[in-house]
Amino acid sequence: MAREIAIFDTTLRDGEQAPGCSMNLGEKLEVARQLEKLGVDVIEAGFPIASPGDLASVREIARQVRLCAVAGLARAVPGDIDAAWEALRPAERPRIHTFIATSPVHMEYKLRMKPDEVVEQAVAMVRYARKLCPDVEFSAEDASRSDPDFLCRIFQAAIEAGASTVNLPDTVGYALPRQFGDLVRRVKAGVPDMGKAVFSVHCHDDLGLAVANSLAAVEAGADQVECTVNGIGERAGNASLEEIAMILRTRADSLDARCRIDTTRIYAASRLVVQVTGCRVQPNKAVVGENAFAHESGIHQHGVLARADTYEIMTPESVGLPRNKMVLGKHSGRHAFDDRLAELGFHLGPARTAELFKAFKALADKKKTVSDRDIEALARGWAPDRKAAWKLERFIINSGNSITSTSAVSLASRDGRKEERVATGDGPIDASFKAIDKIVGRDPVLEDFSLDSVTGGKDAQGEAHVRVRLGDRAYNGHGVSTDVIEASVRAYIDAINAMAEDLDAEGGPGPSSAGAEEDADGQASARNAS
Ligand code: KIV
Ligand code: ZN
Repeated sequence: MAREIAIFDTTLRDGEQAPGCSMNLGEKLEVARQLEKLGVDVIEAGFPIASPGDLASVREIARQVRLCAVAGLARAVPGDIDAAWEALRPAERPRIHTFIATSPVHMEYKLRMKPDEVVEQAVAMVRYARKLCPDVEFSAEDASRSDPDFLCRIFQAAIEAGASTVNLPDTVGYALPRQFGDLVRRVKAGVPDMGKAVFSVHCHDDLGLAVANSLAAVEAGADQVECTVNGIGERAGNASLEEIAMILRTRADSLDARCRIDTTRIYAASRLVVQVTGCRVQPNKAVVGENAFAHESGIHQHGVLARADTYEIMTPESVGLPRNKMVLGKHSGRHAFDDRLAELGFHLGPARTAELFKAFKALADKKKTVSDRDIEALARGWAPDRKAAWKLERFIINSGNSITSTSAVSLASRDGRKEERVATGDGPIDASFKAIDKIVGRDPVLEDFSLDSVTGGKDAQGEAHVRVRLGDRAYNGHGVSTDVIEASVRAYIDAINAMAEDLDAEGGPGPSSAGAEEDADGQASARNAS
């Protein structure tokens, strides 16, 4: 009987620490729901002491997620543990995840503590956390560069103090698979009470070895793997959840281990994380990259047509990527559309599906065929989950290569108010963004903007991603249209709505009418809050 490996997903904590990958409350909830459907065992929902926004989102995830344990990160200090517990209290299965560094370089230069003091602090804080929460995980930060005997000592002490999971992170992605496997074996054997706790690993990808190291650890007896969707995370990222899950599934023949992940939901989870973070996946990324199942060479195509497993070691369906069985177009009916939407992982409820079907028909009138990517883009861009503070009514642009571009944008606010402003700018998109800033009375910095076509062809839809920054918070937006300016305007409004939702959640001013005074105060409070 294969061993069951627990999947601890840290997309919402370590993943969110990746540059430009921050998510707001609504987005984190959407990702958490998808992770729950995916079947992860633990969702690390955030680092509650980091900001009131982080605490609020961990608390909301703790309230809503029922099928997995919900963890919150805490340094090994009482304030962090208190904040984590405050956020996790409503969870069905709360877990406090506390950590302290154990490598010589971290202890001496970062913590300025002696090894004995580190053990003492770890024990005291695991005990403290254990009084609040029945499930405590202890991590030895930078474990792969720590003395193995010291790791055995601190893990034994943490287990005696009440830790039910001990985690061995390769914090800086330094380990080699063989060494990491040996370290896992050595520490497991060197901790007398190891049988009373789950042994976890957490690998970073600085040398591109996060998945290989995690797998070596599993083969050496690790019970839990910490990972993220698309491998996003601090610096080069973390071990990628989809790769771990597909390795366990595809190579079940030679691995004595499996996990509970419903791999057919992987593609939907990956796309969702791309959409909400704006962090794209490289085309050749294993399992979820655009080309992961594309066969270009004639020899390969011929082989796959004759028999798929000539060149496919896993099927696209096994990761939730439907083969294009039917092409959808303007004659397609509601049934075919609903089926395809569900296959792509969208379960939007009758009202939003009906709205989306109308948008699909409108698109099918403009495009001959509507691809899965088109539908996916529509589902995310046209009917966003969040209660939008602002909706696009219309925009009119006047632009050319010999005149200053002007844009008049009209938006409707959540309470039905209509606002129209005109602005000039460096091109029609810049002018439109400025007009929107005037309406919402805020002036975020545009940090990133990209425009792609969803599919090939002249009639392709344009897909825009926008990242804006207000204070030290970044917000992502996404928009789709056959008109690239409209796609850009929609993406910008989407980012503005993410910002408004975040400010609402933190008790800041919601959608405001134009006004520079309010703008200045609003920005200051957003900065202080985070
Ligand atoms: O990489 C790391 O060491 C971490 C710990 C907090 C587990 O993320
Ligand atoms: Zn990490």
